[in-house]
Amino acid sequence: MRQPLIAGNWKMNGSKAATVELLNGIKAGIGDIGTSEVAVCPPFPYLYLAEEILSGTAIRYGSQDCSREEEGAFTGQVSATMLRDFGCTYAIIGHSERRLFNAETNAVIARKYQMVVAHGLTPILCVGETLEEREQGKTEEVVARHLDAVLDLPEGVAALAKGVVAYEPVWAIGTGVTATPEQAQEVHAFLRQRVAKKSAEIAAKLRILYGGSMKPGNALELMAQADIDGGLIGGAALKAADFLAICKAGDANV
Ligand code: PGA
Repeated sequence: MRQPLIAGNWKMNGSKAATVELLNGIKAGIGDIGTSEVAVCPPFPYLYLAEEILSGTAIRYGSQDCSREEEGAFTGQVSATMLRDFGCTYAIIGHSERRLFNAETNAVIARKYQMVVAHGLTPILCVGETLEEREQGKTEEVVARHLDAVLDLPEGVAALAKGVVAYEPVWAIGTGVTATPEQAQEVHAFLRQRVAKKSAEIAAKLRILYGGSMKPGNALELMAQADIDGGLIGGAALKAADFLAICKAGDANV
């Protein structure tokens, strides 16, 4: 059985004070969470607060991105080594907002994925189609391309044994429109089958999260689907009570 992972993607939100409050709020409620693994991804400058506040708890944390380079003259970038230094477990890679606003290509994302794994962190690889692509019937083609960026690495399917995938339909992110459980399940099953063609064992163990307007009100139904193993939560991760309610929903589906 795959352990559900509920990861909060805080994006570019908050302040020092708000981060402390949110971290403490989640920490205070974590005792009620059973089997779900819980993680938060604050903005880079606040990772030190996650390290301070969450150490000794079961709550893991990570970053929202990572440089594809080891170190050196790369102004504004943050390396995997630095993330390790702050105790990160996860790094979100290839989020659609980075594909869109930072022109990240599949090749760049694959390189970041390798870098994260090489430094002992677990990448959360985001894949997902835009509304236009869905309407043109291209959903599978697009998510396959996003997934293949990693599957086609020299290390092959073994690379996916070291990561987590998040299916995030772009049209559902921050819009309040969620994929129906059936729509999401269809894509999750497609992704798992694609991995299974290379390794049934790795596919069976791979956690595939759903992201895109997941909220306390729809989390249970979504995670009840056979191939949905948790959530990558944006907006609803900014309120401790909502985030914890989603973590609870993850527990209910084991
Ligand atoms: P949302 O964001 O939950 O606000 O839709 C999810 C994400 O972008 O990871």
